[in-house]
Amino acid sequence: MSDADTLKIAAAGRALELVMPGMKLGLGSGSTSAAFVELLGERVRGGLKVICTATSEAIHEQARGLGIALAPLEELAPLDLAVDGADEADADLNLIKGGGGAHTREKIVAASAKKFVVIADGSKWVDRLGRFPLPVEAVPFAHQTTRARLQAAATALGYGKIPMTMRMKGAAPFVTDNGNLIYDCRFGAITDCAKLAAALSQVTGVVEHGLFVGMANRLILARVGGIEVIEPRTPPRH
Ligand code: 5RP
Repeated sequence: MSDADTLKIAAAGRALELVMPGMKLGLGSGSTSAAFVELLGERVRGGLKVICTATSEAIHEQARGLGIALAPLEELAPLDLAVDGADEADADLNLIKGGGGAHTREKIVAASAKKFVVIADGSKWVDRLGRFPLPVEAVPFAHQTTRARLQAAATALGYGKIPMTMRMKGAAPFVTDNGNLIYDCRFGAITDCAKLAAALSQVTGVVEHGLFVGMANRLILARVGGIEVIEPRTPPRH
């Protein structure tokens, strides 16, 4: 097991301490969330009663295989707690998510939870978001025109011409669980997360982008020296 895997399990284990019997939980996607689901499965095998909803088909399958009770979000909302990973997090707990292409469902689940807790190893901590390319989910119809509108939005905000790549899976475009495409957009250092998030949400053809602004209640960050629990300077909106 790599050092990063050990740290992901440590962060997941700390988040598990927040889970109480009877809770309705949102399960994030990605490898850190998978570590959380694995640990949750052990607790469920030990008799813990919770009911969960998943942010991706992959995590749904993992949870189902572990005997975790699952239901659609519509039946469970509001959730008591959603736990998810991140590709980047800053001191305000603004996040870049979507490295696994699941950010649309992740955002819906996080927005439907009373508490949204992010779990990550130390490599995800940044002074400023933007090193990781920002995933933007777009409907397939005439997606090149959406790409052009994305570029126009970037230019209008002063980011200039940004490298934008349609995500691939082998030789074919990567398709999300929602049947859409992903454009990975390299804005570079993001100067105003809220402003960029608002602008991207306005782009016709965009389903959802991976900027999570003012959503996280807590970040559990596992580093080699120990676990740090970080809360945002400004409380989240939900
Ligand atoms: C998937 C996500 C993941 O939470 C993010 O990519 C982090 O993944 P990992 O835990 O594997 O580093 O947003 O869409």
